[in-house]
Amino acid sequence: MSIPIIIDTDPGQDDAIAIFLAIASPELNVIGLTTVAGNVPVRLTSLNARKICEVAGRPDIPVFAGAERPLLRHLVTAEEVHGRTGLDGPVLPDPQTPLQSEYAVDFIVRTLMDHPSGTVSLCTLGPLTNIGLALLREPRIASRIKQIVAMGGGYFEQGNITPAAEFNIFVDPHAARLVFECGTPITLIPLDCTHQALTTAKRVEAFRTMQNRCGPATAEMLDFFERFDENKYGTDGGPLHDPCVIAWLLQPTLFSGKLVNVSIECESELTMGATVVDWWHVTRRPRNATVIRSVDADGLFRLLAERISTLP
Ligand code: RIB
Ligand code: CA
Repeated sequence: MSIPIIIDTDPGQDDAIAIFLAIASPELNVIGLTTVAGNVPVRLTSLNARKICEVAGRPDIPVFAGAERPLLRHLVTAEEVHGRTGLDGPVLPDPQTPLQSEYAVDFIVRTLMDHPSGTVSLCTLGPLTNIGLALLREPRIASRIKQIVAMGGGYFEQGNITPAAEFNIFVDPHAARLVFECGTPITLIPLDCTHQALTTAKRVEAFRTMQNRCGPATAEMLDFFERFDENKYGTDGGPLHDPCVIAWLLQPTLFSGKLVNVSIECESELTMGATVVDWWHVTRRPRNATVIRSVDADGLFRLLAERISTLP
């Protein structure tokens, strides 16, 4: 029985590779993609999501456009990392499939209310605005979501867009606070984990030499995406963030972490969006998330190569 998931995303090259992995994995049933403003505005993340599904041979996966901006703060985007289109690197054909007319937040609520309680998992790869809005619109979904697996935050590795905050949480800290306080089981995959998943030249070559279109497209996305972080961190390759979310669902034993409290800074401009992790349980705050701190990077890239090689 495949696991029904909704992927909430702001593609983004790393989002795209996460979506490739999900599509290539029969263990998962991708009910739909919901897009959010993040790396680039939602018009572009919605276009990119459809491009990705179509190049992966799945034009049937519905894409629903979501929030154009965070709950309270102004939108911050990341074209310097992802390029003007948000998916710079390969030239991918414009999508033939139209966007769904239903608003992403309504789709999330409807899907969770229509499916048996505790069956649908949310995989979030961008700012949590859509999930926050869905919780505000229908609080009952909190007890119906099987789990939320989210890429975001950083604690031991601190931040990537500010010294204190990781991009997805920084863009919409108020939505993140709603999510981390809603009571749904959460697995958080922060920079502490994803910084171990480096797109080294050898790993990228494995995609480039595949005899399909998704493998070389993955390599071309990584060629573009990794340059910003290689320059920043001085490493061979850059961190591959979002695919860790899907890989955790598929092979959780590649990862390790522990159940702790995660609280979101929403007051101080200096540390806005910081994920404050009570790793040593020094407070009595509720243990609301399993925070993943390590990944078997070779195992992760073996899984990615194995699955993406099966795509068109
Ligand atoms: O900080 C990394 C996260 O921000 C990833 O999800 C990347 O796609 C960007 O959205
Ligand atoms: Ca993302």
